[in-house]
Amino acid sequence: MLNEILAEKDGAEGPFSSSPRVLNLELSDRELDRIKISTYGIIKGQRGFLVGVCRNDDKELIDLAHKLEDIVLRLTAVGIGTCWLSGTFKRGDVMDRVELSEGEIIAALIPYGYPSERKRLIEGLVTGSAQSHKRKPVDRLFFHGDFSRPVEDAEDSGFADLIESVRLAPSSMNKQPWRLVLDDGMVHLYLQRSANYISDRFGFDLHMLDMGIAMRHMELACEIHGQDVEWVLHGPDIASANGGMVHIASLAIH
Ligand SMILES: Cc1cc2nc3c(=O)[nH]c(=O)nc-3n(C[C@H](O)[C@H](O)[C@H](O)COP(=O)(O)O)c2cc1C
Repeated sequence: MLNEILAEKDGAEGPFSSSPRVLNLELSDRELDRIKISTYGIIKGQRGFLVGVCRNDDKELIDLAHKLEDIVLRLTAVGIGTCWLSGTFKRGDVMDRVELSEGEIIAALIPYGYPSERKRLIEGLVTGSAQSHKRKPVDRLFFHGDFSRPVEDAEDSGFADLIESVRLAPSSMNKQPWRLVLDDGMVHLYLQRSANYISDRFGFDLHMLDMGIAMRHMELACEIHGQDVEWVLHGPDIASANGGMVHIASLAIH
């Protein structure tokens, strides 16, 4: 199933018209013993990984995450567990096994497999430190028309599924940097940069991956209602009053 999905995705363009690469790295029994693609013990027993490769460019990072998250959700739907990793894996171990062209980076590594029933101690520790599973309240993330009118009641907003699907999306360090402005048949996606964010450490902007993930969630929330969607890359001039807010793209819903 995964190979079929990957064949379908091969060369497919994202909302920003780039086509980053997703590779499937599978370890043989021998390699499993010999080589540790290290995830610092956070993920154990993994045999397969999705490797996300693109150039270090904001639009390509968004397109890569958009593509990867679609695969993640399709795996999730059939009970396969995944975890987005952009920081806590040893890039060197992966780079030895993946051919990169000039200028390409490994922006994400996603181990996949059957999830263990047992919740391990380490997960408690890690998710505790990243405040995982917790999500910001709706009125901090979603707005009507401009940033002065927070959404008080998601159910009444006309965008209940879209709101919930973005709110539940994973984001690096669980920063939840998405801010959405709901309009007539349009949803504008903005990035709220974190003040003391460590994305510089990686040499590329992790926030862009969060944006691509959210964009796929937004589309899907509309598609399940049979709505056609289209990304518009220019946005309304409402960001300037709110420091640090960057318009990423707007979804036109038909
Ligand atoms: C782009 C991205 C990169 C991530 N990188 C890491 C990572 O390097 N290590 C890790 O343990 N978790 C990583 N995560 C997982 C997040 O910490 C996790 O999704 C978030 O804390 C929310 O947790 P939940 O989805 O389980 O609710 C990453 C998530 C995303 C979206």
